[in-house]
Amino acid sequence: MRFVVTAGPTREYIDAVRFLSNPSTGRMGFAVARAARAAGHDVTLIAGPVSLKTPPGVTRIDVVSARDMLNAVRTVIARADVLVMTAAVADWRPACCATRKLKKSEMSDTLHLVRNPDILKSVRGPRVRVGFAAETGAPAAEAARKCREKGLDLVVGNDVTEPGSGFGTDTNRVTFVTPDGKVQRLPLMSKLAVARRIVSFVARRR
Ligand code: C5P
Repeated sequence: MRFVVTAGPTREYIDAVRFLSNPSTGRMGFAVARAARAAGHDVTLIAGPVSLKTPPGVTRIDVVSARDMLNAVRTVIARADVLVMTAAVADWRPACCATRKLKKSEMSDTLHLVRNPDILKSVRGPRVRVGFAAETGAPAAEAARKCREKGLDLVVGNDVTEPGSGFGTDTNRVTFVTPDGKVQRLPLMSKLAVARRIVSFVARRR
């Protein structure tokens, strides 16, 4: 199968040197790309700004902002069978961005923000769609809502406040939520082990 996997944060620039972002390191998405490739799939990895090595045999496209990521997904989605949206896409961006560094005297105390496009809601297909739900607290209810609203076959939820889960760790405790309302809580395991579970789930949808 042909996988498109997104990973990492996006950056939304205010001026040439300042941006809005989040603490995502890309580890979960890179693990999904690695696991999918190791299982014999064709993998395109669309990565926000992260400092991780590309897994062997994976085609990588680097992007910066949410809008760049949407454009990259649109470019490759027609050929894909599976989209795994692991990226922590920034929900807002500054309404305008200066191409040079603004002087403090030129900056106002309030930042005018506009909503970024929701990538999952903006693209149709491919056949199998997987999303993530990083929550502060038990993720199952929010994950179920995202599953419905974003038309997903699987939502992988996690509580980023739990020790060993979420941003920057090598492990994750996740909950799988499917459109039939089933909730499967997995134990704490490495992100690569979580990634293998996701790839097996997708392979069963064939
Ligand atoms: O709504 P929320 O951002 O929590 O949804 C998380 C899921 O939606 C993730 O799979 C994420 O990659 C995806 N997403 C997206 N476009 C956005 C924000 C999130 O595709 N602008």
